[in-house]
Amino acid sequence: MNRRVFQLARISAQRCRLSGPIHTCGVPHCVISASIGQCHGDCEGGAHAHIERDHRRVRLTGYRRPGRAGTTHPFLLIAKRKLKLKTRLRAGLTALVDPGILKRPVIHIREREPSPAFDNLLLAGKNVLITGAGRNIGRSIATEMASQGANIFYTDIERNSCEKLQQELASYPVHSKGFVSDISKTQDIDSLYDTLSKDNVYIDTLIHNVGIHFTTIGIRNLDLNEWNKTFQGNVFGPLYLTKKISEAMKVRQTDGSIIFLSSIHQWTIRSIPSYSASKAAVGMIIKELAAELAPFGIRVNGIAPGFVLEQETGDPKYYERALLHRSSINPRYIGRAAVYLASGYFSRFTTGTVLKIDGGLSLYSAHSDRYLP
Ligand SMILES: NC(=O)c1ccc[n+]([C@@H]2O[C@H](COP(=O)([O-])OP(=O)(O)OC[C@H]3O[C@@H](n4cnc5c(N)ncnc54)[C@H](O)[C@@H]3O)[C@@H](O)[C@H]2O)c1
Repeated sequence: MNRRVFQLARISAQRCRLSGPIHTCGVPHCVISASIGQCHGDCEGGAHAHIERDHRRVRLTGYRRPGRAGTTHPFLLIAKRKLKLKTRLRAGLTALVDPGILKRPVIHIREREPSPAFDNLLLAGKNVLITGAGRNIGRSIATEMASQGANIFYTDIERNSCEKLQQELASYPVHSKGFVSDISKTQDIDSLYDTLSKDNVYIDTLIHNVGIHFTTIGIRNLDLNEWNKTFQGNVFGPLYLTKKISEAMKVRQTDGSIIFLSSIHQWTIRSIPSYSASKAAVGMIIKELAAELAPFGIRVNGIAPGFVLEQETGDPKYYERALLHRSSINPRYIGRAAVYLASGYFSRFTTGTVLKIDGGLSLYSAHSDRYLP
């Protein structure tokens, strides 16, 4: 079987006009791949083809990177889950018994992603403050918002992460500045706020991204110190910063947007009660503040992600429990949700809501099996 798969990978690579060695790409469910340079997001040649196998199926895909035309053989389209299984099986069998069909390629242009820079300018000229933006979700929010024209001000507790993001944001024609600042310390928040005010930076969108969690499980291991730290970072610090920024928004009559990164575990268990309880608190804070600040035109909303992770290659990770796409969520989709909630164009009438982005994970209790006998 592997030999056959290997041949198909070679053929699909040819159809995508790829050259170079065929090698396995290292993703656990990917059996074999053909690529130029490194597999997945890193291939500067702009394309790769690979075959994935998970518990249920063998999957063959071939594509070029977003924004470029790619060549995909019809056989590759059988990998599309939208098609009925029967249709896909029949197409697969036909192609296997009649390799001649593989000689008739069609040009297939993948749906084009919006250009990363200035396609829409939904947030042109807005000043955004993001906490904990050094990596993962916070970083993606920063880059997605910068690509919509927002000036990015951000914090992180790690100096290195701040500097790295600064380099990345330098490629966008917007203002950006990072601050090494700890959201759980009121003195850090005061000094952050004073510096922004001194520089005449007035915030239009505030994003509370920092999320602290410990892994202690079970009431028998209760550690109130951990609870204090969790609530300090996830609830009290953000509240203190919100007070300062919202007061300034009121004075300047800014139609502001305040966004809290919550979690699906504001509703479902995570077996880390300090974390889920802090997110549940965030859920109510969103509603309370939304009602209080609505008369001033300030909107308060939340985003509740499921499992967000991108691998070093830039790809999501196979995750069986997420019903939709069976993968972790690439953080850029959380960034785009933040763009939505920050943009009056889309969400002028949206306040007090929490937008769930979890690939269907919370449609059933993903952690309930822990409690099964
Ligand atoms: N990643 C997920 O799967 C997931 C799922 C649901 C919700 N969330 C929520 O999304 C938010 C971001 O998650 P993430 O996975 O990107 O987090 P992360 O831990 O990967 O990154 C958090 C960033 O915040 C910084 N940070 C930590 N403590 C800080 C502090 N006290 N002050 C300032 N910066 C600090 C870290 O250095 C890091 O750069 C969190 O609120 C988290 O609870 C994440």
